[in-house]
Amino acid sequence: MPPDTRRFRQRRLLTAGLAAAALPAARAAEVSLQVLHWWTSPGERRAADVLVARLAEEGIRWRDAAIPGGAGVGAGKVLRSRVLAGDAPEATQMIGATIVEWADTGLLLELDGVARGGQWAQALFPEVLRGVQHRGHVVAAPLGIHRINLLYVNLALFERHRLAVPRQWDDWAAAAQVLQQAGVVPLALSREPWQVTTLLEGLLLASGGPVLYRALFSRLDARAAADPRFAEALARLRLAKAWAGADLTEQPWTRALERLRSGSAAMMVMGDWAKGELMAGGWNPGEHFACVPVPGTAGHHLYSVDTLTFFARDYAQAAAQERMAGALLAPALQAEFNRAKGSVPVRRGLDAAAMDACARESYTLFARGGDALVPSLAHRMATGESNKDAIVAELHRFFVNDALPVAEAQRRLAAVLRVLAPGG
Ligand code: GAL
Repeated sequence: MPPDTRRFRQRRLLTAGLAAAALPAARAAEVSLQVLHWWTSPGERRAADVLVARLAEEGIRWRDAAIPGGAGVGAGKVLRSRVLAGDAPEATQMIGATIVEWADTGLLLELDGVARGGQWAQALFPEVLRGVQHRGHVVAAPLGIHRINLLYVNLALFERHRLAVPRQWDDWAAAAQVLQQAGVVPLALSREPWQVTTLLEGLLLASGGPVLYRALFSRLDARAAADPRFAEALARLRLAKAWAGADLTEQPWTRALERLRSGSAAMMVMGDWAKGELMAGGWNPGEHFACVPVPGTAGHHLYSVDTLTFFARDYAQAAAQERMAGALLAPALQAEFNRAKGSVPVRRGLDAAAMDACARESYTLFARGGDALVPSLAHRMATGESNKDAIVAELHRFFVNDALPVAEAQRRLAAVLRVLAPGG
């Protein structure tokens, strides 16, 4: 369908959708939408159930299509094959650059009227709004902001070994050494490529700061791979690997987190969905565990933003999809969902006092914007899906092969970036 006709149809449907949204819940016809997502751990499930319950109050039934696999590695593949088979889900969890990639195909429903009606331009953080737009149109409904550069510490273990929560690399390395000598595994870590990348992202931000980070992972600048601060981050990744000891297997993030909780490992680096998971299990930040920035990254927010997008298909569900998109931004739903998820709301100007200390820091830092914000590579914020996969594969090759010199890994990544860089 030519874009103009499509726009016109979208506008007509939108009017119908907004009219329905304006009706009291009891009078709006019940609608039902299938939602593809990867929130399958107990904590994530609890957060998804908040959406299910709040949307049900608005007459919107959530039909669940959950695909297990941390960071949506499995869900992304299922989505692609379903779209190719002409069976796109009606709503889909999507992040960062993949939104743009899917919007480029012309298959995503535009949500401009919903955004106007809900005053998203005023209500959302500018970075969040930018992230859900494509060629001037809103194409996704943002749900929450995750912080990725976080270190979790089992406080009972740290007290037993009289250790302070580390803030800089040297304290971190010293604490790991003390733990290792006492026979405690310092770091819970999985060999899964996206989890290894999560750790490397934090280490690179600490060693090289946001400018080098962006040069490598957003601008794909091959020259940046030769930077000695990148070499330092790689060397530290190798040291951190040794902190995981014999426990280093390819396991879901929930299994690694369980080792932190049970006390069989003392620390873990992971996005704040891990905080949601720990809290769902009755563990409180500041009491049972510390949730602090990855040492050396305190002023920075390595972030990802979860969103839902809506495949337009034949527009038969457009009005229902618009109702769902609008409802997701309701302040009460935002507060409740993000509390359960471990993330923070996408709406600005909220009172952070009611949030836990970790969320408060995340929210305040995100509100600062500018250079404080650094897009996550592992979670598709820094660059698109296939670029991300190519970089992650190269980092993973270095991680699994202790015989590969750091300088050689730098050269190999530079070669990859040269191919991937725009016009490269
Ligand atoms: C991220 C996503 C989070 C969480 C995490 C673990 O990509 O943004 O919501 O689900 O993966 O699977």
